[in-house]
Amino acid sequence: MIVLKPTTAGAKASRAWKITAAAVLGFAVLAPFYSTLPAQEKSRSVWDGVYTEEQARRGQTLYNQQCSTCHGDTLAGGEMAPPLAGGEFLANWNGLTLGDLFERIRTTMPLNKPGMLSRQTNADILAYMLDVNKFPDGKTELPRETEVLKQIKIEATKPEHF
Ligand code: HEC
Repeated sequence: MIVLKPTTAGAKASRAWKITAAAVLGFAVLAPFYSTLPAQEKSRSVWDGVYTEEQARRGQTLYNQQCSTCHGDTLAGGEMAPPLAGGEFLANWNGLTLGDLFERIRTTMPLNKPGMLSRQTNADILAYMLDVNKFPDGKTELPRETEVLKQIKIEATKPEHF
């Protein structure tokens, strides 16, 4: 068998090709990553300080008027109603969004008169629920638009980057 020794020019050309290939490959691998960055910035989680302390205080008053008879003063649940704080509750909602939880409350609660509370009242109560579940408060109030709330993910445990 004859093994052809590559000429200097051939070796150079082959190196140039390898570099180009590596660059193209590298771009192909990284491009989808870069293109998803803006989207990731837009979607937030309950760990990003998505409600204010004052809103939670308003929500506490409303909760005590509208929800506590069934779900308990400390959100631990009652004879019939499930808890709205703690591990079991968070396990139910982990991976879903605040929009999902908001709609569940807005359309089915209070159980004895569903759908009668305003969006603002529901948003304030939700802020209080986040507070009791030990998610951090922040500088802006929780919005009352379902579409915006759907961009905030419920994550039961604190993600790595915090
Ligand atoms: C009359 C009693 C009663 C009142 C008042 C009430 N709830 Fe409920 N709630 C229940 C019961 C019972 C369930 C479970 C059965 C069901 O889902 O319909 C429930 C379920 C829920 C769930 C689902 C929990 C889960 O993990 O799946 C949420 C969230 C909730 N309630 C929030 C609220 C909020 C917020 C209020 C006040 C605005 C409220 N409830 C008022 C009785 C009540």
